[in-house]
Amino acid sequence: MGDIHPPVRKVELIERLCRIVPWVDAQAVLTTTGSEAVEVALKTARIATGKPGIVAFRGGYHGLTMGALAVTDRAHFRSYFEDQLYKGVSFAPFPECNDVSRVTADETLGLLRAAFQQGAPNGDPIGAVIVEPVQGRAGVRIPPDGFMAALSDVAMEEGAMVIADEIFTGLGRCGSMLASERLGLRPDIVCIGKVFGGGLPLSACLSSQSVLSAWPENDGEAIHTNTFLGNPLSCATALAVLDIVEHWDVPERAEVLGSQLLSELQDSLRGAERVSEVRGRGLMIGIELVTDDGSPWKGGALRVAEAALAQGLIILPAGEHGHVVELTPSAFLTEDQATHSLVVLSSIIQKIH
Ligand SMILES: Cc1ncc(COP(=O)(O)O)c(C=O)c1O
Repeated sequence: MGDIHPPVRKVELIERLCRIVPWVDAQAVLTTTGSEAVEVALKTARIATGKPGIVAFRGGYHGLTMGALAVTDRAHFRSYFEDQLYKGVSFAPFPECNDVSRVTADETLGLLRAAFQQGAPNGDPIGAVIVEPVQGRAGVRIPPDGFMAALSDVAMEEGAMVIADEIFTGLGRCGSMLASERLGLRPDIVCIGKVFGGGLPLSACLSSQSVLSAWPENDGEAIHTNTFLGNPLSCATALAVLDIVEHWDVPERAEVLGSQLLSELQDSLRGAERVSEVRGRGLMIGIELVTDDGSPWKGGALRVAEAALAQGLIILPAGEHGHVVELTPSAFLTEDQATHSLVVLSSIIQKIH
C-alpha cells in the first residue's frame, strides 16, 4: 500500500519487522505516527470484518487524530470534538489486577459479551476490540492474570479482530518483545511506534496476510498512504533500533532492570503517606498518589515531576487525574543512574504534601 517504488531499506525493515509478530504470514504497513498506525488498524478491522463498531477501554489512549481519538477515553482530548467523533464505540471498563474496589475481569468480560450482543451505541455491529496490553497514559494500569487471554477468546467467538496497541508497550518495554506475549493477548493486528523510529517519525501496523489481504488490490491509487510513509531515513534508523533491541536483548534487560527498580521503589515507598501503590511490568512503572481520604491526588504527579525535574530527573505525570508518577526509563540506565534516580525520587515522594 502506498508503495510505488519502495526504497531497499523499507523492504529490509518490513521483512525484519514481520519476524517479531506471531504470524508466519505477517505483513506490515509503515506509518508515521502512533495515531496513524491506529487509524490503519481500525480501517483494516473494518474492511476485514465488514463490521464498523469498536470496543475500546475506559482510560485507553490511542492518539488524537479523529479515528484514534474516537477510541481514546479522555474528556480533556475529546470534549471540543465530541460531535465529530465516530459514535460506534462501546467503552468497557479496564480491570486492574490490584484494584478490588472497581470492576473485576469477569464483570468486564460480561459487559463485553453484552456489547457484542447489543452492538455499538449507534447500533453498528462490533468488528474490533482495541486495547493497550498495559494501559500507559492512564497510569500504568495492569490487567489481572488471564484477562487478556479471555478477552481474545471472547473477540474470537464474536468474529471481531483484537487490535493490540503496543505503541508504548512494544519492542521490549514490558519485558517481552510485545507485551501481548507476556499477558496472553492474542492480537489479530498490532500497532507499534514511539521507540521504533529511534527518534524519527515512524510507526507500523502489522497483521497476517490473511487479514491484510482484505484490503482491495491497489489499482494504481492506494486507499491508505501518505507522503512520508516508510521514508528511507526513518527506515534505516528503525533497522538500527531493531539491531540494538535484538543484540542487547532489550526485553530481558527491561525485565531485569524493571523488576529491580520496582522492588526497590516498593521497599523505599512502603508506608509513604501519599502512595497507594507502586506497580509495573518491565520498564513501565507507576506510582499511584492519593489524598488523605484515599481518593486520587489530582495533579499530585505533576508536583512530583516538577520537583524531580529541578533535580535533573525527567518523569511523566499520568492517569486521568494526573495522579500517577510514570517511570519509563531506558533499558540502558546504568547502575549509578538507577540508584541516583531512586534516591532522589523516593525522597521527593516521601516529603511531598
Ligand atoms: C498506547 C498509545 N497509542 C497511541 C499513541 C499515539 O502515538 P502518537 O503520539 O505517535 O500519535 C500513544 C502516544 O502516547 C500511545 O501511548
